[in-house]
Amino acid sequence: MKNADSDEALESVRIQYLGRKGELADLFQAIGTVPESERREIGRLLNATKTHLLESFEKASNALQNRADNVETVDLTLPGDRLPLGSLHPLTQVTREIKSCFQSMGFTVAQGPEIETEYYNFDALNIPRGHPARDMQDTLFISEADEIVLRTHTSPVQIHVMENQSPPVRVIAPGRVYRRDTPDASHSPVFHQIEGLAVDEGINFADLKGTILNFAQRMFGSDMQIRFRPSFFPFTEPSAEYDFSCVICRGKGCRVCQGTGWIEISGAGMVNPAVYQYVHYDAEKYTGFAFGMGVERIAMLMYEINDIRYFYENDIRFLRQF
Ligand code: DAH
Repeated sequence: MKNADSDEALESVRIQYLGRKGELADLFQAIGTVPESERREIGRLLNATKTHLLESFEKASNALQNRADNVETVDLTLPGDRLPLGSLHPLTQVTREIKSCFQSMGFTVAQGPEIETEYYNFDALNIPRGHPARDMQDTLFISEADEIVLRTHTSPVQIHVMENQSPPVRVIAPGRVYRRDTPDASHSPVFHQIEGLAVDEGINFADLKGTILNFAQRMFGSDMQIRFRPSFFPFTEPSAEYDFSCVICRGKGCRVCQGTGWIEISGAGMVNPAVYQYVHYDAEKYTGFAFGMGVERIAMLMYEINDIRYFYENDIRFLRQF
């Protein structure tokens, strides 16, 4: 009975020995043919055998049942389990969107190192020694003696590009930048910028405005307005800060734009001729514009995120929403 590996096999063994016409029944029948004196003893033996066989049958039957319970039955008609699927980080998504927006305007994508010399991060951008931006308070130095820093902005990529390419130039440069900031809702010591640079003959401020307006409308909708406010950056002249109409209230005034209807994005301007000297461009022949932007800032506006730290915590409950 132990060898019976299915209900049917076990049942046929049972019938063979314990069935109404089985071997045991035959033996009971045969009791009548043995001498009277031995019948009692034989009857006892047959009953004991029968009890043993019944117990064995019971055991074998239970074992089969247990085995059946333990075998996973596969129901091929059930719908499959969904595998957890990752998604692109919101900063990656926004960076890609910004890139493709500028690529459609004819910009290519450039990259530069995150570890820079002071020359690229400051000097060649016309940021003089002693300028507050160069202060240890703001800049993370790899080696002060060797003048090696973690880039504090993506603007040094402008210099690398112009050193390696003559005009016309139309590039954007996305990447990580580093500043000595204590993290809070709007600061992070590592964040992302995208730099833009266009240099050619006859480029003027209207080209800058048109480019930024097109970008704003592509990213946030065709009702977007932009405005430029006078500002100062050593590497642009004139310099401006540019704002988008508030992406939340669309210019009406709300909590996010503090009632102004405008949201500050970043800085821009016409490339300062002083910068062309460092890269040996003919400042008489060429003009250009440059602009920067913070990727986190754009992403926060786009998805209405009110704390920059969410981007770096890798909390799956946050990331799953994108
Ligand atoms: N590099 C500046 C910053 O990090 C942003 C910036 C301002 C970039 C003006 C530019 C520009 O290209 O023209 O604050």
